[in-house]
Amino acid sequence: MLDGMSQWLTISRAAHLLGISRIALQKQIRDGELQSFDGMVATDDLLRTRPELDLEESGSFEKTRAIREDAFARRLRERILPTQEALAQRLFAQGQELTELQRTLMRYHTLFESLQARLAATSPPSATELIRLLDDGLAEALAVPAPARDVAALDAMLSVMSAHVTVKPSGREFFVEGSETLLQAALRAGLAPNYGCGNGICGLCKARVVAGEARSVTPYDYRFSEAEKAQNHILMCSCTALSSALVLEVLEAGVPEDIPEQRIVARVRSVDRLSDEVMRLHLQMPRSNRLRFLAGQRVTLGLSAGKVSGSDLHGEYPVASCPCDDRNLLFHVGRTEGQAPSHVFSQCLFDGRIKAGDDISVWGPWGSFILQQGSPRPLVFIAIDLGFAPVSSLIEHAIALDAAESISLYWASARPGGQYLPGQCRAWAAALDEFDYLPLTIDELSPLLAANATLPLSDIYLAGAAGCVEPLAAMLLASGVPPGQLHVEAL
Ligand code: FES
Repeated sequence: MLDGMSQWLTISRAAHLLGISRIALQKQIRDGELQSFDGMVATDDLLRTRPELDLEESGSFEKTRAIREDAFARRLRERILPTQEALAQRLFAQGQELTELQRTLMRYHTLFESLQARLAATSPPSATELIRLLDDGLAEALAVPAPARDVAALDAMLSVMSAHVTVKPSGREFFVEGSETLLQAALRAGLAPNYGCGNGICGLCKARVVAGEARSVTPYDYRFSEAEKAQNHILMCSCTALSSALVLEVLEAGVPEDIPEQRIVARVRSVDRLSDEVMRLHLQMPRSNRLRFLAGQRVTLGLSAGKVSGSDLHGEYPVASCPCDDRNLLFHVGRTEGQAPSHVFSQCLFDGRIKAGDDISVWGPWGSFILQQGSPRPLVFIAIDLGFAPVSSLIEHAIALDAAESISLYWASARPGGQYLPGQCRAWAAALDEFDYLPLTIDELSPLLAANATLPLSDIYLAGAAGCVEPLAAMLLASGVPPGQLHVEAL
């Protein structure tokens, strides 16, 4: 009989190893030269009959083991694992049980320490007294524990469901939910890690695992050098966190100069009219080539030559969406008249010559109207008409970072009711306790800002047409706002 340490191979695999046909091997089994069980042959038996076979050295042994482990893991995933809901409920129940056990253990510990202290006292208790103390203490320790606090059980469950990642050297943190990649989770949390293709090819999203474990969840083509492997490098776009806590060393962009100039051809997903004067252009980036930019930056949008009367049309526009969704870029384009390329680009949008499915080249990013991270001051955003586009990107980024003490938005328009996305602003105000939104006209803006004594204590982001923002910026500086706290984007 074969011992428990033997590994098992299928008859086909064993025949392949022996270099004989499957039929020939089956004959050996029938002749009693080899034993088989349930269509499998034991490696020990193979070595006994053919000692020249070195399974360990050939790697077949390990390969067989890996195949079996893989098959076992697949069976687990496909047949044994419960649904996500059932798993979550069981984890929650186990978290409660664990918390209760910890509390009971603490009681035993306290009892033990108090008995130890009594025995070490100058007048130790008598045996009778000791038994009474022990009985009382045990009764207390074994009393049905109060239900464990849900928060502790929930924390135990969440530590399994979402991993906590700390980034070095910045010290910033984010959570990875489900099986999303580290790159997706980092972008969602407002971080700006170095990356390129987002698809496992370029290697730009490399990070070093300092503590914890990460595992690849999508295939990648990038080849790590031996040194990178030895230093625990992984690709953030292909890996998720395996351990509940992970520490990564990541290259992050902090200033616009950290981001390279890119030129990508995107597809128009939709063109929507937001008002008589403003169109929203939604571009979708190729799956394997996203635009890397910082919230608040601009890009040049270009229409290929020949689209309109053989001309090469282009215009520079702020991205109105957040880098946390780098596949979808939104732009707010105002109606303009004139023959300059940017004016004709706008006219093409308004008269329907640019439509869903068209290709648009995206070139950039440009500009330094970005969020100053790490400041503890309240954030004040002042948007004048289309200045709302970069401000909207900054606000979404600030919300993702979840670091601002409070956010105020003043959106001034040349005419009453000119705010073309009031629902979005009201949604922010409804969702966030510390968010104030005030729509107003340009004429109302200056006196209101002049009367606000808290502005010098805030970080102010002001965006709009040059003719409007320049006098306002001068007024804010004159009223005591420190220059380092005033950030201006003249469109
Ligand atoms: S971003 Fe290119 S490999 Fe990850």
